[in-house]
Amino acid sequence: MISIETIRTPIKADLEAFDEFLKGQFASEGKLLSDMLTHVLSSRGKGVRPIIVMLTSALTSAVNTREWVEGERNCSKRTYLAAMLVEMLHTASLIHDDVIDGADTRRGRPSANALWQSRNAVVLGDYILARTMSAGMHSAQYDLVSHIIGSVATLCEGEILQSQHTHEKSTTRSDYLEIIYKKTASLISISASAGAVSANASRKDVEQMRRFGEALGMAFQIQDDILDYSRSAHTGKPTNNDLREGKITLPLIEVLERCTPVERLQIMDKLSQCATDDAAVDFLQGVVEATGGLTMAARTMQTYIDRATAILASYDESPYRTALVNLCAYVAERDR
Ligand code: FPP
Ligand code: MG
Repeated sequence: MISIETIRTPIKADLEAFDEFLKGQFASEGKLLSDMLTHVLSSRGKGVRPIIVMLTSALTSAVNTREWVEGERNCSKRTYLAAMLVEMLHTASLIHDDVIDGADTRRGRPSANALWQSRNAVVLGDYILARTMSAGMHSAQYDLVSHIIGSVATLCEGEILQSQHTHEKSTTRSDYLEIIYKKTASLISISASAGAVSANASRKDVEQMRRFGEALGMAFQIQDDILDYSRSAHTGKPTNNDLREGKITLPLIEVLERCTPVERLQIMDKLSQCATDDAAVDFLQGVVEATGGLTMAARTMQTYIDRATAILASYDESPYRTALVNLCAYVAERDR
């Protein structure tokens, strides 16, 4: 399996410089706020979005025709700014998401709401959002900032739409695709196109990268939803958080599209019990597994991966293109 380390190789020096850039931008006053920011910045995860920004920037940059040299940087400060904007918008959205979901952990560490209560976590998310926007405005790179900033509203629309469908207890395939586009694929799409914008690439390249990021982002969220139903190598059990939260995601939609009206009523009845009843969760997990919901969802995910790699095939061979192709494979194969 391809590792994220392999994917990072051609932009390793840039990612290290980016970490310092980020810490410098987010220094703050006051002990509680500093503690909270340190916690958030030190538990950032894989940094998929900055990786995408830097690789698409390097892929589409006209000055990047020279050979790749290990240890050398390939991205400009404008690209770091783009990476910071998308990464910190994402970070703020996850802090709020954990408050909304009442989640105690994020990436194996306590969430901000678990450590400092929801009331502080909400303001922390707002603070990061505000600081990100002012950093963007102060940079005076208005084309880049306006390219990225609309994604905040799209993320919020996705979150509210998901809440609406959970409440209404009905989600069709097209509702699901709209939700995952808004809550996940939109920001990954913006990350890929922002990389190209930051490299002053042509309009055609910006559009190609937007489409690439959209397809990759759709696959990314579908895989996330499949993993929620999949037995982890670590615990031997699926988490089934989506069922517990009443969320209807693709593996269950695949089943609902093929079952009889009577089976559908039974599934919906069980779903309404999942918040408090482990037996109902186990029942639906069993139905999804036995009727091929996971296999069919994986097939849909693969169509998006194929779309993303087909777009990359129109670019000349380079370490950046290889890394992006590997990222597509990584998204499809990842197990966490
Ligand atoms: C994770 O979903 C959540 C998102 C991808 C977006 C959340 C967006 C908001 C809360 C809107 C607010 C936005 C800003 C910028 C402040 P998930 O719960 O399915 O995934 P998880 O398993 O990682 O929690
Ligand atoms: Mg969540």
